[in-house]
Amino acid sequence: MRGQLDALLKEERVFNPDEELAENSNIRAWMDARGIGGYDELLERASSDPEWFWDEMASELEWFRPYTRVLEWEPPHARWFTGGKFNITYSALDRHVMGPERNRVAYIWEGEDGSIRKLTYYDLYREVNRIANALKDMGVSRGDRVSIYLPMIPELPIAMLACARIGAVHSVVFSGFWAKAFRERAADAGAKVAITADAFYRRGKVIKLKETLDMVADEIPSLERVIVADRMGEDVSMVDGRDIYWSEAVEGMDDECPCQELDPEDPLFILYTSGTTGKPKGVVHTHGGYAVGVSSTYRFVFDVKDQDIWWCLADIGWITGHSYIVYAPLIEGATSVIYEGAPDHPDPGRIWSMVERYGVSILYTAPTTVRLFMKYGDKWPEKYDLRTLRILGSVGEPINPEAWMWYYRTVGGGRCPIMDTWWQTETGMHIITPLPVTPLKPGSAGKPFPTVIADVVDDEGRSLRGSGGHLVIKTPWPAMFRTLFREPERYVDAYWSTFPGIYLSGDVARIDEDGYFWIQGREDDVLNVAGHRISTAEVESALVSHPDVVEAAVVGKPDILRGEEIAAFVTLRDKVEPTPRLKGVLREHVRREIGPIASPSYIEFVEDLPKTRSGKIMRRVIKAIVRGEDVGDVSTLSNPESVSMLEDRVRTF
Ligand code: WT7
Repeated sequence: MRGQLDALLKEERVFNPDEELAENSNIRAWMDARGIGGYDELLERASSDPEWFWDEMASELEWFRPYTRVLEWEPPHARWFTGGKFNITYSALDRHVMGPERNRVAYIWEGEDGSIRKLTYYDLYREVNRIANALKDMGVSRGDRVSIYLPMIPELPIAMLACARIGAVHSVVFSGFWAKAFRERAADAGAKVAITADAFYRRGKVIKLKETLDMVADEIPSLERVIVADRMGEDVSMVDGRDIYWSEAVEGMDDECPCQELDPEDPLFILYTSGTTGKPKGVVHTHGGYAVGVSSTYRFVFDVKDQDIWWCLADIGWITGHSYIVYAPLIEGATSVIYEGAPDHPDPGRIWSMVERYGVSILYTAPTTVRLFMKYGDKWPEKYDLRTLRILGSVGEPINPEAWMWYYRTVGGGRCPIMDTWWQTETGMHIITPLPVTPLKPGSAGKPFPTVIADVVDDEGRSLRGSGGHLVIKTPWPAMFRTLFREPERYVDAYWSTFPGIYLSGDVARIDEDGYFWIQGREDDVLNVAGHRISTAEVESALVSHPDVVEAAVVGKPDILRGEEIAAFVTLRDKVEPTPRLKGVLREHVRREIGPIASPSYIEFVEDLPKTRSGKIMRRVIKAIVRGEDVGDVSTLSNPESVSMLEDRVRTF
């Protein structure tokens, strides 16, 4: 049985790197310049001398004063590039505006309604400086927190950079969160100023953000001022003495604002992770190490060069957007697309049309989005010219091999490698990831990035090979979070005490015979059925590999005899009949894909699964429903109505 389980979804296909792409890659050029023969050699050298590698990476950035130490590591506390003086915005902005490259486009922004704004590096620089001066005028200074509650409009990265420039700490709250979630985060951060917008478009609907903030502003004791960006010209109520329009705030402000010279360990931002239970965790990232980590992974993993057009579909309200829409692309001087709205609005051709219109060459999105477009069918991507694409990326959850193959063939035309990047809000940067020079296995995130030693261990901390266990990281990395805001003990307890001095990711993974990592999902999404560890992600992957299935969510239903039984909630392709016979077919399908042990005892067909606004299936909610427990706060779901529908279905179990 063990053997069968370990063979779960053992994907045998290997895709070797395209020679031309690998030959011309940034990583190859970097290795050639140092006489390093191949990536495995680099991995070896970097893990035996991590400070050499990170010192090299840091030398690509601008330092007001050079650091004296690369790393001080007293587990679990790291300090990177100490003794130096640094500000991330100097590398992201100032250095690009010294010469004619200031006219390079930094951001191409497209609103859901089709409006377009383009900002050059010089435009961005001046916008950032003006609002930075306005913040200073309001009394915001080094170390103060500013909560940013903005949709995907250029003011969002501008506001973040403005805070960073003056040494203030930004805390972005995803604009899809509702009032309560904003209040909780802004109050915890002790925000002095909030920056929001009147409204924005989502699926053609006008979402009034300022109004949402107003519902809770009085419950944030530290809040003094609110800046309101005018996206839509909506009428909003302004509180005298507290609220000011962005345009008024920057009126008369100088477009030069000196960059505050900071300690590289100064906090850059707090980002709250939704957390499956309890209070959100305020993950703290710093200026120096974070800048080095995100820029080097971006340069090597996505191979971004001057002629590229980069598009990351994540929302800036999540870590993916912080690292790979704002900081890394700007440090690297890239041209990025930012899109305001839903990817399938007004029709499923939207993103493909944008790829064609802007000549996007590198596209980074999540498996859930890939599966959504897979469901819409090949005809949509086929309508557009996607030949500018050269590299694809995936992040956020394990990508099932079927979705991987569809992405590879239909979107990438069989030319573009898929960088399945494993990382977390806490890690700040890619940790386990392919590169353009590494062979790919569909469904595997590949190997740890240079210097990183990751492992899979059992409960006693012993390394496991070939079977599932705790995914841990044994070495510090520069973009690692430094603490949890106001909860230093929780930082230690939640991440570093199970295996002292070793980072516990909370994910379950398996390492195969080639050293490739296969992420199976969160620990709490792993079931124990009759003493066997089964990843919900693997059962889901098996289900969605059936042609009739679009998405599946699998949770454990407590069972006296077997510990847990597998319950699956499945959405079907258009026009497929949800018959009892199909349930039998799917059970048989999973049995064949994985083994009898993984075959779901319960299958329910549903129209929709409860999801976060970032598109993640909320298994916590489904699990609670299945267990007849209180579902808790569902206000942050993108589709709260799915909950009562599920409750009805579960009654028939
Ligand atoms: C969790 C972190 C990192 C940016 C987005 C999510 C899952 C992330 C992958 C991947 C399998 C992945 C993990 C991780 N995850 N990337 N490539 N393959 N799983 O950030 O909200 O902090 O979530 O997302 O479970 O722990 P996050």
